[in-house]
Amino acid sequence: MRSPVLLLCLWSAHCCFAAGGPAPLGPEGPPQDELHEPKDVQIAAKPPVRFNLRISEDPEHEGCYLPLGHNQPLEDCGFNMTAKTFFIIHGWAMTGILGEWLYKLVSALRTREREANIVVVDWLPLAHQLYADAVNNTKTVGHSIARMLDWLQEKDGFSLGNVHLIGYSLGAHVAGYAGNFVTGTVGRITAIAEGMKCEHQRAIYLFVDSLMNEDKASFAFQCTDSHRFKKGICLSCRKHRCNSIGYNAKKTRHKRNSKMYLKTRAGMPFRVYHYQMKIHFFSYKNTTEIEPNFYVTLYGTSADSQMLPLEVVEQIRLNATNTFLVYTEEDLGDLLQIRLTWKRVHQSWYTLWTNFRSYLSQSRKSEQEVNIRRIRVKSGETQRKFAFCAKDPENTSIAPGQELWFHKCLDSRRIQDGIRQTVLP
Ligand SMILES: *[C@@H]1O[C@H](CO)[C@@H](O)[C@H](O)[C@H]1NC(C)=O
Ligand SMILES: *[C@@H]1O[C@H](CO)[C@@H](O)[C@H](O)[C@H]1NC(C)=O
Ligand SMILES: *[C@@H]1O[C@H](CO)[C@@H](O)[C@H](O)[C@H]1NC(C)=O
Ligand SMILES: *[C@@H]1O[C@H](CO)[C@@H](O)[C@H](O)[C@H]1NC(C)=O
Ligand SMILES: *[C@@H]1O[C@H](CO)[C@@H](O)[C@H](O)[C@H]1NC(C)=O
Repeated sequence: MRSPVLLLCLWSAHCCFAAGGPAPLGPEGPPQDELHEPKDVQIAAKPPVRFNLRISEDPEHEGCYLPLGHNQPLEDCGFNMTAKTFFIIHGWAMTGILGEWLYKLVSALRTREREANIVVVDWLPLAHQLYADAVNNTKTVGHSIARMLDWLQEKDGFSLGNVHLIGYSLGAHVAGYAGNFVTGTVGRITAIAEGMKCEHQRAIYLFVDSLMNEDKASFAFQCTDSHRFKKGICLSCRKHRCNSIGYNAKKTRHKRNSKMYLKTRAGMPFRVYHYQMKIHFFSYKNTTEIEPNFYVTLYGTSADSQMLPLEVVEQIRLNATNTFLVYTEEDLGDLLQIRLTWKRVHQSWYTLWTNFRSYLSQSRKSEQEVNIRRIRVKSGETQRKFAFCAKDPENTSIAPGQELWFHKCLDSRRIQDGIRQTVLP
């Protein structure tokens, strides 16, 4: 059986997260002072791949180097053979130093798994190269890790099942090679890949977040593409289509190449609450196209949301049910009512032009009006579904500049289920 690999394809509304981030922690370069290393290692040339056991909370502490075949450092540094062992594998190192994310990850891992051995795989000499060369070196580094793991497997108590390889960007390739070359099956491999350039390092911080905020686990949902996710179509958890992300992810048999999507907050904790909104737009007037400028405000038992835009991916289809994705940063509790607002599009040249054109052609611009009787809502996080009916069933029409209120009602399609539930014990 292959080790589960979590690949996150991430995108979100908050771009440029890493820009202007906090200052790096401590010196990031490879340690200058080699005095603490065993003598035989000091004499030998510095190997291109080094295994650095982190033994202190202090990121400036250089830790213990574990040379292959030497038992003494394992003992001296308190390597716990029966505990979990993490190998953190960095990626391409354009600057030749280890990033701040690595120390954050080590610290978060230590907080979550007190007894674990945390080994940083330092392959800077092979990673601080032209990108193509660094890629070519990943196989070599994978081999080194596999040899280290095979050696550790000779020790009493050590089990490959307790090993978790965490590879970031090119480090994910390395982890993949290591997993293939090692004798046996590694317990877990996590490949942390970046989605887009503008979300630099978000994926790694999502992983750190998942270690630190176990009680605020972020959910991701399987979807064929981001387009469909943005439309709110993919909030299903059936057949393992959703999962917590990062460290809290449950082991499932993922279809190969299944992509998981989620929205995030701009900073930690990243967790948001996803909702799918299904709205049928009835159009009785001769309206063919409407300005898609709708907002919902959600009122819950714990909190109320802000005005949340109904993001329109293509265009709103009339006389049809449209699906939207909205999300809140706060847990609103159970939803009680929804306000739907249709804002006028203000002051853009485009509007002036279309208004002018409407005026000339006497088109139905002024007749923009739709009727909305109910909004069906599904929570991604709880998977519960609710229906919200227009407060005034006699007045379900809305035009730009107006709003409509909806309160929780029994969805006629669900009444049958409700009866069955009350009959059963
Ligand atoms: C080693 O790890 C095991 C398993 O996590 C734990 O039970 C044990 O107490 C640890 N030993 C030491 C000396 O920390
Ligand atoms: C890739 O690396 C190997 C050594 O691991 C080297 O022999 C080979 O020339 C490299 N190939 C390229 C295209 O750099
Ligand atoms: C929607 O349905 C109504 C009533 O059946 C009809 O008058 C109207 O033309 C339809 N609008 C569109 C855009 O299909
Ligand atoms: C509806 O609009 C279309 C296209 O602008 C127009 O041809 C048609 O006559 C209009 N129908 C009514 C009933 O106003
Ligand atoms: C229907 O609701 C809209 C928006 O709240 C309001 O402007 C309009 O006067 C109402 N019409 C009737 C007939 O109640």
